[in-house]
Amino acid sequence: MNLHKATLRVLYTVSILFAAGVILKGYGYYSLPVEMRPHSALHQALKPGGLWGHGLGILGSSMVLLLFLYSARKRNLFGLRFGRIKNWLNIHIFFGIMGPVFINLHTSFKFGGIVAVSYYSMMAVMLSGFLGRYLYVQIPRKISGEELTFKEMKQTATHLTNMLTEKYQLNQVTLIQIDRLAGTQNNRGGFSAILAIMKSDLTRFFKLQKLQKEIHRSYPKLPQAELRRIISIISKQSLLLRKISFLKVVQPLLHYWHVVHKPFAYVMVIIMFIHIGVAILFGYRWIF
Ligand code: HEM
Repeated sequence: MNLHKATLRVLYTVSILFAAGVILKGYGYYSLPVEMRPHSALHQALKPGGLWGHGLGILGSSMVLLLFLYSARKRNLFGLRFGRIKNWLNIHIFFGIMGPVFINLHTSFKFGGIVAVSYYSMMAVMLSGFLGRYLYVQIPRKISGEELTFKEMKQTATHLTNMLTEKYQLNQVTLIQIDRLAGTQNNRGGFSAILAIMKSDLTRFFKLQKLQKEIHRSYPKLPQAELRRIISIISKQSLLLRKISFLKVVQPLLHYWHVVHKPFAYVMVIIMFIHIGVAILFGYRWIF
């Protein structure tokens, strides 16, 4: 496991355990009706302006602001030119999931007024992030996370085919099966294309298993390790071919997704700043 993955794993583990701890400790409080809450011993700590409640709000909103560093890195702004875009997106997603979790705990699951607009925008942006991520990974990319050009995609596909036919001597029948696995005969658009991609992802594992058995039957002398290597190349190849064949549908969908996703994010941040400004004006300064 590389350093980036290990760091992410630690960040997720620590944050999830912390959030779970707060939920376990505060469950009795959070489940009380609002008018009963002031009588709870936990009220002073867990109310949105309380020591813990307010701290959770600061933590959550800082995380939500930090996720915008991804936009800066993508555009090489503020000297952010280091690190793979792909890794920055993973950090964006970490802040985009855990920030809203802590903000939910800060609200103590009770809110109203103008800040509710920010809250619902945040939840909409967060949830739509999962769809965006799904579309994002449908576009063939380099290890760095940058998009492959069409020429690079074709070159990679040809290289993988050559490996299968020249190095491993696979026949034409197997190549046709790879095409079928990839579902390259795509003529669908919009939502129906997304459903087809999802279906292909859900059935891939089983289709690959079947193909592995067929190859084993056709080439019984092939050592197991070699067979596994071939299947791994076939898996890469078929996925790449599928991504290429759906590219014309996925690229505009990701573009429209951006068009919807971004304004909600900006509305959320603007109202969040108004909310923070008003809280400071009213003297809520946490421990400061
Ligand atoms: C409160 C939470 C979130 C906010 C405010 C937010 C905000 C944004 C913004 C402003 C962008 C545009 C970046 C740019 O092109 O400059 C973006 C892109 C993106 N976000 Fe989020 N996001 C949130 C959560 C998430 C989550 C939870 C996920 C995934 C599970 C996610 C996945 C993505 C993806 C895949 C992109 C597109 C990356 C690209 O095309 O370069 N986001 N987000």
